[in-house]
Amino acid sequence: AAINSGSARTDLDMQAYEERLEARLGKSREMMRVVLNKAKSDPKRVALAEGTDEKMVRAAYQMQDQGIAEPILVGDEDSITAIATDLGLDFDPNVVDPKSGDWDHYADRLYELRRRKGLTKNEANEWIRNDTNYFASVMVEEGDADAMLTGLTHHYPSALRPPLQVIGTAPEANYAAGVYLLTFKNRVIFCADTTVNLDPDAETLAEVTKHTADLARRFNVEPRAAMLSYSNFGSVTNEGTKKPRDAVKLMHDDPEVDFQVDGEMQADTAVVEDILEGTYEFSDLEDPANVLVFPNLEAGNIGYKLLQRLGGAEAIGPMLVGMDKPVHVLQRGDEVKDIVNLGAVAVVDAQNE
Ligand code: ACO
Repeated sequence: AAINSGSARTDLDMQAYEERLEARLGKSREMMRVVLNKAKSDPKRVALAEGTDEKMVRAAYQMQDQGIAEPILVGDEDSITAIATDLGLDFDPNVVDPKSGDWDHYADRLYELRRRKGLTKNEANEWIRNDTNYFASVMVEEGDADAMLTGLTHHYPSALRPPLQVIGTAPEANYAAGVYLLTFKNRVIFCADTTVNLDPDAETLAEVTKHTADLARRFNVEPRAAMLSYSNFGSVTNEGTKKPRDAVKLMHDDPEVDFQVDGEMQADTAVVEDILEGTYEFSDLEDPANVLVFPNLEAGNIGYKLLQRLGGAEAIGPMLVGMDKPVHVLQRGDEVKDIVNLGAVAVVDAQNE
């Protein structure tokens, strides 16, 4: 009997788990459907800097096949063609090979952009032919591609540096930041900054919040932002808690900020309706936050990973915001679906250019 009741409980647990999983995946699929449909309405050219990576070739095939993007695989043409053939993919990939053809104009452009930052002409020639991250960055900067994806085979900072140096931030921006969209059973959360700024000051936090709110709207989500801290509205006052509080003040004083934002507040205040409405009913957030802005990179990176792994969220990202052109830097080891999803996000970014 004990075994029977145990297995009955297990069946119920499994059923509940599967329902929760389905609901969560449903939310995630719903969010991606918005973006995929937008992408398909006007697909753009996306340069895949790591074109000789098998996952990139698979992702290129899917993006092209589904009409999400016009992928450009950057890398050795023979290797890419061989990978596509070995995988049995029925497509003729668009390949741009930095080692064949005349790319002097890209080297000249890179030199022009970086010569006052210590780059020599020889180095520019060398980097264009041997570093596909620089090649793809110049390609986007020159308008020969509309967007770029990289990062699968590099550590994040070294994949990010070439686009930061060559493409840089948008004219109205000073900082790029990495945003993850996490989807749970009944809600979605945008987390920032999870990948770029080590120790942002109040101005940076405010700017990152505004970029993230813009991104949320591209997913048809109306942003409500919380500036996270270990303090609730002045319950602890020191230099650490002052930063998010000052960021809120900057945004409340900024006439261009047209979304709800408040803080500083603890993470549970931000996401639990009872706390927000009970104890802090004066808050500007009418409902729990869906944009969580972390006070520094340790908190942001650790926080989103715990939410994803222990909270069982589906994650889309990291989406780079604040750049002058659409660039997204994947995590090492990301899967084909992650590349395709970020490709679609990049296409939607490019449509807004
Ligand atoms: N936003 C926009 N541009 C920036 C930023 C920023 N936050 N930080 C640096 N830059 C620009 C600089 O202005 C500079 O441009 P310039 O040469 O034209 O003047 C260029 O990028 C290089 O900047 P450096 O000051 O030389 O900085 P560095 O190259 O050392 O580092 C980087 C920049 C890579 C972003 C660094 O801040 C970093 O490593 N951040 C953390 C990345 C990380 O480890 N993330 C966590 C893991 S990722 C994951 O989990 C998915």
